[in-house]
Amino acid sequence: MSISDEVTRQIKDKIEIVDLIEDYLPLKKVGKNYRTNCPFHKDDTPSFYVSPDLNIFHCFGCGKSGDIITFIMEYEKVSFPEAVRILANKAGIEIGEFGGENKILYTIHKFATDFYHKKLLNSPRVLNYLRKRGIESKTIKEFKLGFAPSGSNFLPEAKKKFKVDDLMRSGLVKESKGNIKDHFFLRLLFPLFSPSGRVIGFGGRRLSKKGPKYLNSPDTPIHKKGKNLYSLWHTKEEIRKLKTVILVEGYFDFLSIYQAGIKNAVACLGTSLTGDQAQLLSRYADEVVIFFDRDVAGRKATLRSLGMLLNEGVDVKIGKPETGKDPDEIIHTRGIEKFKGLLEESSDFVDWTLNRIRDEYDLSSPMGLSKAVEEVSSILSQIREPTRYEIYKEAVSRKLAVRQDLLGVKKTPQNLEVRQKMHEIPERDEFELSFIYAMIEKPEERKFVFSILNEEDIENPHLKKWFRLMKENKVVSIEEVIESLPKNLMDYVIRESEKPAISATLSAINLKKYSLDKLIERKRLELQRVEEKGDEEVDLLREIRALIDKRRELKEGEIIGN
Ligand code: CTP
Ligand code: MN
Repeated sequence: MSISDEVTRQIKDKIEIVDLIEDYLPLKKVGKNYRTNCPFHKDDTPSFYVSPDLNIFHCFGCGKSGDIITFIMEYEKVSFPEAVRILANKAGIEIGEFGGENKILYTIHKFATDFYHKKLLNSPRVLNYLRKRGIESKTIKEFKLGFAPSGSNFLPEAKKKFKVDDLMRSGLVKESKGNIKDHFFLRLLFPLFSPSGRVIGFGGRRLSKKGPKYLNSPDTPIHKKGKNLYSLWHTKEEIRKLKTVILVEGYFDFLSIYQAGIKNAVACLGTSLTGDQAQLLSRYADEVVIFFDRDVAGRKATLRSLGMLLNEGVDVKIGKPETGKDPDEIIHTRGIEKFKGLLEESSDFVDWTLNRIRDEYDLSSPMGLSKAVEEVSSILSQIREPTRYEIYKEAVSRKLAVRQDLLGVKKTPQNLEVRQKMHEIPERDEFELSFIYAMIEKPEERKFVFSILNEEDIENPHLKKWFRLMKENKVVSIEEVIESLPKNLMDYVIRESEKPAISATLSAINLKKYSLDKLIERKRLELQRVEEKGDEEVDLLREIRALIDKRRELKEGEIIGN
């Protein structure tokens, strides 16, 4: 069953957009609307508007806009059904079975998490392994660690509750040589929580010598490799609060840090950060401290992740795991204080890059230097913010003693284009938009308006449609209208909504006047051409006279109307 319109309507009725967004962002009231810095792009001026009247948010900088559901989808990085679920939860609305085919996959994962967790709590051997690795029982419970014993244990139990088809789709069982069996054998399991707190897959560390060290859930409709970050669900509030996050590679790194009291960390799970993960992190943090393994793979992953993060406009520092192989090892062999000290000493990404370059290239040779310049330029080029880019470029040029112009191309402010576009709206559209807006705000005036204006007076096809619907007595909401508009017009309506709505009648008269003025102007030009050619002009003259009369009447009408 898909989500009914009824559920989304109820949610929209119950949740005020301002209340919702205020939970996430500090809002400042300006006129009728609220404003803040946009969470969806690097925003120094508050370009993000929330309109309680229109029930929408809109960013004049990046153009993102929508209703409460869109906001949650964008902000929490979730699908439509997931956003509805979150909102229904907030509103205390019972939504029952929905979410289509995926719903069952979440249920299966919940069942599996409990199943494997129980297995672990009953396995002295695995508990002992975890104890030896310094994982406390509180952590085991909080992160619902599990144990998949040898042999297909999960399938026979799960089959009692779920269809084998669904179990196959969950990735927790698979077909092998004609038989269906469990995906995980003899592994310690780390449930992977989605940012909204539901288990969507598992990572499994081998407990024997057999097989790869880590084996994860395959990609499924609810889990895609590289889209999620381990533990973000548990730490996102802390990250949001501190605005900085420590990024590590592995499960054990994360758990060791977390249980030592550093709660603003996440793990990206081995491979370097993907673009999706970087974007997800940038949602919560302004600064990321990368603390990867001290090996070649770790360094490579650091470099790649660094690029991804700079591209998302976050600041990056690099931690030095100089006294152990990874954070887990540092904490267990040298103690948490040592680790905190290393965190303090983490270097600016430019310093880190320059140090690495000095290690790798002979900067006294032209060949070495040009290689170094190439590499550092490619990192600099990922800095999105123009000022920061210039400042870092200057610093690098000084430190490497190379001319600035050798370090890449000059950047232009990325928002300039959007900002300019925002003001470019044809005059006629302005009149028509104000008019449609007033018609929606003042329905009681519509009847009179229809007596003086008709469809032909509206030129913009988007708006003509809404005018027609109103004339047919259809219910038209401002949200629908806004959603149907191209971006630049949408911007205009939202700015318009800042002002108190003027009377629809006045607005109609203004539009009519404007429309007549334009028509008269056009006819006059035509007349000029006709005269130049020496053609017959009587009809045109008569037409113009009639228009001018009409225009004059309108003026009087306006006085009466007032
Ligand atoms: N990883 C993975 N798949 C692999 C190897 C690694 O998903 N085949 C991920 C795991 O999340 C792992 C992280 O990459 O935690 C880092 O890998 P590694 O350094 O090899 O493991 P550790 O976390 O250090 O594991 P351990 O401490 O148990 O050796
Ligand atoms: Mn490691």
